[in-house]
Amino acid sequence: MIFWRVKSLDAILATAEKKSLHRTLGAWQLTLLGIGAIIGTGIFVLTAEAAQKAGPGMMLSFVIASFVCTVAALCYSELSSMVPVSGSAYTYSYAVLGELVAWLVGWALMLEYSVAASAVAVGWSGYFVGLMQNSLGIEIPFALANGPFAGGIINLPAVFICILVIALLVIGTRESATFNATLVAIKIAALTLFIALTLPVVNLENFQPFLPLGEAGVVAAASSIFFAYVGFDAVSTAAEETKDPQRNVPIGLISSLAICTVFYLLISAGAIGAIGAQPLLDETGKNLVPGSLQLAEQCKSLAALGQHPLVCSREALALVLREIGWEKIGNLLGLTAFLALPSVVLMMLFGQTRIFFVMSRDGLLPEVLSRIHPRFKTPHIVTYVTGLGVMAAAAFLPVGKLADISNSGTLFAFMVVAFTVMILRIKDKSRVRPFRTPIVWLIGPLAVLGCITLFFFLPDDAKLVFPIWSGIGLIFYFLYGYRKSHVGRGVDTPAGGEDIISQVRPLADCDPDGTNKKS
Ligand code: ALA
Repeated sequence: MIFWRVKSLDAILATAEKKSLHRTLGAWQLTLLGIGAIIGTGIFVLTAEAAQKAGPGMMLSFVIASFVCTVAALCYSELSSMVPVSGSAYTYSYAVLGELVAWLVGWALMLEYSVAASAVAVGWSGYFVGLMQNSLGIEIPFALANGPFAGGIINLPAVFICILVIALLVIGTRESATFNATLVAIKIAALTLFIALTLPVVNLENFQPFLPLGEAGVVAAASSIFFAYVGFDAVSTAAEETKDPQRNVPIGLISSLAICTVFYLLISAGAIGAIGAQPLLDETGKNLVPGSLQLAEQCKSLAALGQHPLVCSREALALVLREIGWEKIGNLLGLTAFLALPSVVLMMLFGQTRIFFVMSRDGLLPEVLSRIHPRFKTPHIVTYVTGLGVMAAAAFLPVGKLADISNSGTLFAFMVVAFTVMILRIKDKSRVRPFRTPIVWLIGPLAVLGCITLFFFLPDDAKLVFPIWSGIGLIFYFLYGYRKSHVGRGVDTPAGGEDIISQVRPLADCDPDGTNKKS
């Protein structure tokens, strides 16, 4: 029985012990790590989509999404401090809920990381196009900077950034803590400037009507803007390198989420108050679907009249600054997104290769995927395979759709993590938990409920992709993984697997040149 195929927690922990990574990260570094992974396309680009779904009420959407992430983060922290090994939700569920659930979680995490990488690449493309046009006067043809859903042919800038990131990953580029801290500082400075320039010109009338599409619009926008908070799990996966994880992991998680929430609220208030955020409606009074051809056409007609509403922009924050007369600072903010978003693509693709690695090391995916490049010592095959998929999605799909699809996988994984924490509290009471989720019987069910609610408020197509993707995953599992699984065959995981994983760690253990301090 596949549910009985459980990887022993003790065996997983024994492998982790062997790694004996130095514990170097403190609360402050963890917070920076979290902010670095969190701030990206969500706030820079998807603010426009959230406005199209909820109008000014999107401020509440940011709060709802932040709440769901916070309760999920508290569950994540308990598991990551207990089972501080690579593979995050996949590994935890393998130990507690068995191979089939673990497979489904790993498969869902592919959706999370790969599709998120595509979404951020498309978000970057919007800023790139705007920057070229506004700073250098170079017009990139619409058809070559937009996929078919928005009336174009292919998003070439998004393809370009994917190729660049894939190449960097193959030659072994990793982000050092210093590089991450620099990028965080740049992002925070740009967003603070945005707040400082927009809040003084807030016009309260722009907040009316506050809920043009009702409460349902607010929750639907929360399901999409949830993307803006994804990435905080980077903090929990660094638990094994953290000093005093009991104290520092939750501080890192909660403070990075709290800081981002405050920023997001102030930014959305500034954007709404400065230029308004009312959705565009069709003749029946229904809001046009973000990323659709109809919305693109209505936006084109408005642009021809010299009107540039927030909901039409592919570089929302830069647009707001330009509209209120800060043309050059708008371009500067565009430059910040241009510089900072590729690192989010890199982190997401990197996370994906790590998950693939662990799954192929467990025999659930072909082992060829975990082959290491003889010269660069990187998992080049898995990077190419993932990169191709990411590139294809970025070339043809709009950013909002990609973010929603990614959210569907993430919400599933977070839900399983919350279940796992609760089950483990019953099944394995006495195990040492360096961090315990506070009031777990409230936080755990809230996390499950929050994830389910946001999932059901996703657009139908994103909701549909998830079961189809999982169905494909199940077919693959029964044709391949079920037979080849190391646990199923009673085979030990090949020695050295964890070494390979630790070679691709991106966090504090790497210098900017990619050398591993701890090896
Ligand atoms: N939270 C990350 C972003 O918004 C994924 O780009």
